[in-house]
Amino acid sequence: MELQRRRSISLPQILATWLLLMAAYTGPAECIRRTSRFHGEDEGDGSGAVEAFKYSATACRAHTASLEDFGGVGDGATSNTEAFSAAVTHLSQFASDGGGMLFVPAGRWLTGPFNLTSSFTLFLHRDAVILATQDMNAWPIIDPLPSYGRGRDAAGGRYSSLIGGSNLTDVIITGDNGTIDGQGAFWWSKFHGHKLKYTRGYLIELMHSDQIFISNLTLLNSPSWNIHPVYSSNIVVSGITILAPVHSPNTDGINPDSCSNVRIEDCYIVSGDDCVAIKSGWDEYGIAYGMPSQHIVIRRLTCISPTSAVIALGSEMSGGIQDVRAEDITAINSESGVRIKTAVGRGAYVKDVYVRRMYLSTMKWVFWMTGNYKSHPDDKFDPNAIPVVDGISYSEVTAYNVTMAARLEGIPNAPFTGICISNVTVELRKARKLPWYCADVEGVSSGVSPAACASLADQGDGAQPCPFPTDASPMDDVQLQECTYVKAISA
Ligand SMILES: *[C@@H]1O[C@H](CO)[C@@H](O)[C@H](O)[C@H]1NC(C)=O
Ligand SMILES: *[C@@H]1O[C@H](CO)[C@@H](O)[C@H](O)[C@H]1NC(C)=O
Ligand SMILES: *[C@@H]1O[C@H](CO)[C@@H](O)[C@H](O)[C@H]1NC(C)=O
Ligand SMILES: *[C@@H]1O[C@H](CO)[C@@H](O)[C@H](O)[C@H]1NC(C)=O
Ligand SMILES: *[C@@H]1O[C@H](CO)[C@@H](O)[C@H](O)[C@H]1NC(C)=O
Ligand SMILES: *[C@@H]1O[C@H](CO)[C@@H](O)[C@H](O)[C@H]1NC(C)=O
Repeated sequence: MELQRRRSISLPQILATWLLLMAAYTGPAECIRRTSRFHGEDEGDGSGAVEAFKYSATACRAHTASLEDFGGVGDGATSNTEAFSAAVTHLSQFASDGGGMLFVPAGRWLTGPFNLTSSFTLFLHRDAVILATQDMNAWPIIDPLPSYGRGRDAAGGRYSSLIGGSNLTDVIITGDNGTIDGQGAFWWSKFHGHKLKYTRGYLIELMHSDQIFISNLTLLNSPSWNIHPVYSSNIVVSGITILAPVHSPNTDGINPDSCSNVRIEDCYIVSGDDCVAIKSGWDEYGIAYGMPSQHIVIRRLTCISPTSAVIALGSEMSGGIQDVRAEDITAINSESGVRIKTAVGRGAYVKDVYVRRMYLSTMKWVFWMTGNYKSHPDDKFDPNAIPVVDGISYSEVTAYNVTMAARLEGIPNAPFTGICISNVTVELRKARKLPWYCADVEGVSSGVSPAACASLADQGDGAQPCPFPTDASPMDDVQLQECTYVKAISA
């Protein structure tokens, strides 16, 4: 598969741009006089040229600025950390006055980590690349997440994320499929060489924030996870392409962590770890923090993850995970479809998980549940903190070229319950005596081929399919607005 197509300008794109400009002409702005950049006219005075960009987002902004206005240099070599930071600071004054948008023009914008602000849009031109610096000193060290107690790569602090933000409301990160490149190879080799004193940064992390909209971007080579909303709510992630080498360490795609009301849709993810992983804190730290991930919708996800899951729940789930709905999931060459990972010491629960319409090809396991996931932040975890896994429904699944249909392992004396599997056809690569392996799980099945294990009692033909909720989920009615940004072309 060709993953990195060359961009070339097609006739429809030229027409679309031209139409946008015509639309811009109807606006009141007097400065819109010339469009020579688009159709070759030259009016000779060299002033007043504009470009117009249209995008849809949860909010448009009254105030705009371009990174170049703050001394940004898009040569791929000059650091723009100061420019990003100055631009965000400048635009933050408009948070209660219509909001601010920062435009990142075509170019390669090297930068260290920077934070966003409230009522703010970061918009990338289609040929803009935000390049993460490989100068480790440019990455501030921040505290570990309270619900994890420590960093995941190393005890103690962690590098901040490339694009961050805390305690924000109404944040948009979008573009016309512009790129954020984490240049992660540098970090992966430090990780493999055990040379990291602190945990690697993520590409995008928003903490304690509300109303987050991330769309139409390509994310490349994150040092670690790509998109990490944590302790946040009302989040849409839409139309994101995430690419990382399939053997890069922990390059998870989208990880909602102790988040409520999340909609992830139309994403294409190739990565070295889970494409989507829902989390909520680690052992005693996550239990104490007590913030669940809930009301999460995932739809039209396409995933390639040869060493991990298409959708993982856990392993850090100590604040609880509840009400997850996933549908229209396509995956090829992935280790498992949906995977629940937990362990004694995690506490809390994973419940009310509904998955339907998965189309999978070349998989090790279609379904995988693990009750003894061996990783703990330290040895202070509570051996009596037994996680509950209950109410897990999978239906309408077709899978080809599969090694084993399922590996379902609950916790001895604390079985995973309420598992329902219906209308599932798995075509095994090689016939097996035991295509399903089950231990410490309880539930029902119907219309499953090859037949599920006895602990998922076959309800026979005519059984009700496994449930999928019919009520609306909280993010279904998010309204998008059509925004236009008109930029004067500098000489
Ligand atoms: C994202 O891009 C798609 C086409 O690739 C377009 O249909 C959609 O409207 C865009 N979304 C936003 C939010 O701009
Ligand atoms: C971003 O904000 C966080 C939390 O307020 C802070 O710890 C961090 O240092 C900030 N990062 C930068 C690059 O300013
Ligand atoms: C951010 O929000 C969290 C949770 O509400 C709060 O504990 C923290 O003090 C806030 N931080 C700042 C800098 O306001
Ligand atoms: C965005 O760019 C990526 C990488 O070039 C490409 O694979 C993807 O198809 C593009 N998405 C859209 C909607 O154009
Ligand atoms: C089936 O899976 C095997 C092992 O992963 C792989 O080598 C082979 O190419 C796959 N076949 C097809 C037809 O996808
Ligand atoms: C069973 O699942 C297949 C897709 O895997 C779907 O086409 C079919 O309509 C489903 N049948 C029922 C009865 O839901």
